[in-house]
Amino acid sequence: MASLTIRKLDDAVKTYLRLRSAKNRRSVEEEVRVILRELIEGREEPLTPFSAPPAPSSAPTPQRTGALPEASVTLIIGGGIAAYKSLDLIRRLKERRVEVRCVLTKAAQQFVTPLAVSALSHERIYTDLFDPQSEFDAGHIRLARDCDLIVVAPATADLMAKMANGHADDLASAILLATNRKILLAPAMNPLMWNNAATRRNVAQLQRDGVVLIGPNSGEMAEAGEAGVGRMSEAIEIANAAERLLRPPVPKPLAGKRVLITAGPTHEPIDPVRYIANRSSGKQGFAIAAAAQAAGAEVILVSGPVDLDDPAGVTVKHVESARQMLEQVQAALPADIAIFAAAVADWRVANEGEQKLKKTAAGMPPLQLVENPDILATISKLADKRPPLVIGFAAETEHLIDNAKSKLARKGCDWIVANDVSPATGVMGGDRNTVHLISRKSGEIAVDSWPVMTKEQVAIELVAHIARSVTDKSLEPAS
Ligand code: C5P
Repeated sequence: MASLTIRKLDDAVKTYLRLRSAKNRRSVEEEVRVILRELIEGREEPLTPFSAPPAPSSAPTPQRTGALPEASVTLIIGGGIAAYKSLDLIRRLKERRVEVRCVLTKAAQQFVTPLAVSALSHERIYTDLFDPQSEFDAGHIRLARDCDLIVVAPATADLMAKMANGHADDLASAILLATNRKILLAPAMNPLMWNNAATRRNVAQLQRDGVVLIGPNSGEMAEAGEAGVGRMSEAIEIANAAERLLRPPVPKPLAGKRVLITAGPTHEPIDPVRYIANRSSGKQGFAIAAAAQAAGAEVILVSGPVDLDDPAGVTVKHVESARQMLEQVQAALPADIAIFAAAVADWRVANEGEQKLKKTAAGMPPLQLVENPDILATISKLADKRPPLVIGFAAETEHLIDNAKSKLARKGCDWIVANDVSPATGVMGGDRNTVHLISRKSGEIAVDSWPVMTKEQVAIELVAHIARSVTDKSLEPAS
């Protein structure tokens, strides 16, 4: 009979299985069995992905949103009085949308019951290295690897000694030896045991091996009248440490930087009901604003009329015309970085009608156009408040690179992001973009051509370049 290694399935299938098994409160293996049975019985559920598994009705409402990816933890509960806190830890992990599969050592079962652990984790629990009931063909190997993190709480002096020396004579120590996942230990023991030379050696060895420790804290011991370092960290501290390992904080390379961005088209009024516009959707500028915000920057987005939601955490100034856009840009200075992604109308109507223009027998009313202020050039040439890095966009339908290079010189900016907007490319209003980053490097003009990407990916790449230029002097603008 063939055996199936869940770990080896592709990510989409694994995610589907995890979400579906969490939803149905079954282990992944049980879920696979159910799917196979249903298939054979001809009543399979459609394989459509879930956006997020609904919380079990008896479980507390999750504090986090479904946006966070699913993760799974194998929780090894060691034998100590602090084991009661592991029950709260299961709840805290599940609140963070983490699946928890529990292993109890023999000693742990003296402190918490398998029934309580199983009820809280909504999973069967594991206790024996040789378990005829186990649905796994090599239980300890699966428990060691079919998870994203192993947490040991409480980590007793004995369990840590076994780990440090590579023992594998019970299920818990065999899992810890067989795993290639990160391990988080929450030690709990009497202060004398914690300070014992043997434990000190074991802790040092485990840290050298890359094991992460949380605590122990200092405080009162269960033993009357004893106090010191040895109390297990609180469940919330362990859950937070686990979450940091499962979902490391995103680096914020633009923290402390103020980024000013223009986006979208401008509308230049002809009369109170008509205007001159262009086909810009604002998607690229909005994606850059979101990426800069995610990179930790304070972002001010000056946007022309678009059909997009304001990016979260970004200050958005909505404008109509080029002159209003310039006004808001000037008001937003000083900034460390300015990115002019707006498709600003080059001209506006000089003789804007106060009332709606009427058709007359004399034919079409003449429209006189005057040039709009060039926002990019104006800001690039500022003597006092010029941002240290000014980036323009060049949307061209022909001679893309040459036009972009001459724009770099003419406008006085530091970088130009050039993109081909001929109708065949579908860039205007579309979701993908092919761009070339034109900059000055050691007096020369450098062209860096990027592959076709979504506008979000272009934004992330541009922000990564900006972040590098902030730290790497060789990429700094030459001006
Ligand atoms: O001259 P052109 O419109 O092709 O230049 C494009 C770049 O200049 C873009 O970065 C655009 O946002 C900026 N621009 C501007 N004000 C204008 C015209 C263009 O900021 N009036």
